[in-house]
Amino acid sequence: VTGTLYGVGVGPGDPELMTVKAWRLISTAKTIAYLAANGGESTARSIAKHFIADDASEIIIDMPMRVERQPAQTAYDDGAARISARLERGEDIVMLCEGDPFFYGSFIHIYERLSSKYKVNVVPGVTSVNAAATETGSPLATRDGVIKILPATLGEDRLRDELMTCESVAIIKVGRHFEKIRKLLATLDLLPFATAIELATHAEQRIRAVSKINEPTMPYFTTILVNTNRRPT
Ligand SMILES: C[S@@+](CC[C@H](N)C(=O)[O-])C[C@H]1O[C@@H](n2cnc3c(N)ncnc32)[C@H](O)[C@@H]1O
Repeated sequence: VTGTLYGVGVGPGDPELMTVKAWRLISTAKTIAYLAANGGESTARSIAKHFIADDASEIIIDMPMRVERQPAQTAYDDGAARISARLERGEDIVMLCEGDPFFYGSFIHIYERLSSKYKVNVVPGVTSVNAAATETGSPLATRDGVIKILPATLGEDRLRDELMTCESVAIIKVGRHFEKIRKLLATLDLLPFATAIELATHAEQRIRAVSKINEPTMPYFTTILVNTNRRPT
């Protein structure tokens, strides 16, 4: 029989925000897999590191972070092939995913390649948006409130349209798109309601009003919350 692939959410940063199921699967795993961007350290692995057995074998999927899609597609193909070879041998594999695996997670690309052929179990995790809300003390929505998630990678026109019709928004993938976002928020008079959080629940967490940030870019792990139901900052 073939092995099972587990896509396990490790939460946004603080290891204590991992589910008990994630912790159990990680600490008993003989083989773990994860992505490493540009050959660097994997954030998901660093969140889970205290729970990984010393003798666990590790499948590292090197991910070239480029604007072009092809290098990443090739890396996902290659990673899926390596995972598949182990599943064929009957090994179970725990793939670590930052936040929640199905919430803009790279795991989705592996899932799409393998879920029709193998048993894949996905364990949900606390997302960065949930962590950003609690750490900044900004409830996301109440009663009939609507909340939107907007990737900052969207074009300016689409972002403007979406921002104009919503009272509570989480903007993710801010990084090098920060300047575009800040200008849009200023044009729409939303700056007083916008808070940026870097590395939510990590030791290096940082929270600032967007109006007070002067850098043109922000770190990749930045989320901006805009909620017009809140008092202006
Ligand atoms: C590819 S998405 C992955 C989201 C992840 N699967 C989750 O459930 O939160 C990456 C984006 O999530 C946001 N993000 C992830 N972790 C974060 C953290 N600890 N603090 C702030 N933003 C974070 C950033 O906007 C980042 O650009």
